[in-house]
Amino acid sequence: MSSEQDDIDIDTSSAGRSGSPAPSLYSFSSIDGRLMLRHVYGRMLNNQNDTYFLPADTEEHRRLDLQHQVLTLALGGLFPAPNLVRRALTPRPGKPPAILDVGTGSGSWAIDMARQFPHTTVVGVDLAPPGIDGDLPPNCRFEIDDANLGFLHYQGAFDVIHARSVSAGIRDFPLFLEELSQALCPGGVVLLGDGDMQIYDEFQDAVPYAEEGTPEFSWTHRVFFAAYNAMKNRGGSIDSASMSPTWLRAINSYTDVGWHKVFIPIGPWRYSNQRERLLAEMLREDCLRYISGMGPLLLSEGYLPESVDKMQREAAAELRELRVHLHSRWTFAWAVKRP
Ligand SMILES: C[S@@+](CC[C@H](N)C(=O)[O-])C[C@H]1O[C@@H](n2cnc3c(N)ncnc32)[C@H](O)[C@@H]1O
Repeated sequence: MSSEQDDIDIDTSSAGRSGSPAPSLYSFSSIDGRLMLRHVYGRMLNNQNDTYFLPADTEEHRRLDLQHQVLTLALGGLFPAPNLVRRALTPRPGKPPAILDVGTGSGSWAIDMARQFPHTTVVGVDLAPPGIDGDLPPNCRFEIDDANLGFLHYQGAFDVIHARSVSAGIRDFPLFLEELSQALCPGGVVLLGDGDMQIYDEFQDAVPYAEEGTPEFSWTHRVFFAAYNAMKNRGGSIDSASMSPTWLRAINSYTDVGWHKVFIPIGPWRYSNQRERLLAEMLREDCLRYISGMGPLLLSEGYLPESVDKMQREAAAELRELRVHLHSRWTFAWAVKRP
């Protein structure tokens, strides 16, 4: 497929949408045989960087389905803070409880929530369509929208709001959290989840930067480090995984802030039962697919094609052959909207 010919530009200039700091443009292009979503922010005003430049095709959605299974297994369910979530979704007379999934991706979390809580209505929002291929529960729907434009049209509308792994596409994460609180009804729960782009060693310590040829060097760390820098340079809130509990506490309309961290081995280099082994194998597969989709992001950052190719190939070999003993860290945070 030629990239020039197949570009589809969807101009969602947001005049009239209050809360939108600048018009945006979303462009879907075929690069390296993958459908890429490129979110150009504020293009009409100046030449700011893209905020988002990642795959948005069926291949990526299948990866997200796999990652959703990993996180559901790691959490032992679809969400942390089960008591708060179940209380917020208690059936009641009148309007059914409502759930929003921001940056829904393949829509798997939204669909699973709609199945688990059939008395609720669930809305999944994303810049790109979810590409549903199975049965969609009748209480679940999807909308195409940009979370950076705010949720003024959804004031006090939701009992639970979920935003997982969206930080690369969010321009100002503290403002985003403030806007989510306005879209929650009193007593409603916000649920955040994010994987670190920083990776961790076998003792769960952050892997430091190391030069090629030194004993500490790993290609897996190198490729994640390069992607972290590329996303940060593009204005994504890439550090939100570790910052979100602090940011939630700073917002007066939230109370009962909580969080916890989960370390998952990347590949079965260590496990004590079949569940842990399965989790580590699934996460390795997720990472392999994630790394293989990083090409366009790294090329756009100025890396030469042969360097990108080498980083991807060597990192994949390291993970497949279990030559590195690494962990991925996931942070889950939550808070309740004050009554
Ligand atoms: C890594 S995926 C995570 C998908 C899903 N939340 C999950 O955990 O499986 C990030 C998703 O967020 C979407 N996204 C990024 N920035 C967004 C924005 N500003 N508004 C709406 N969706 C956004 C992307 O299109 C992508 O589908």
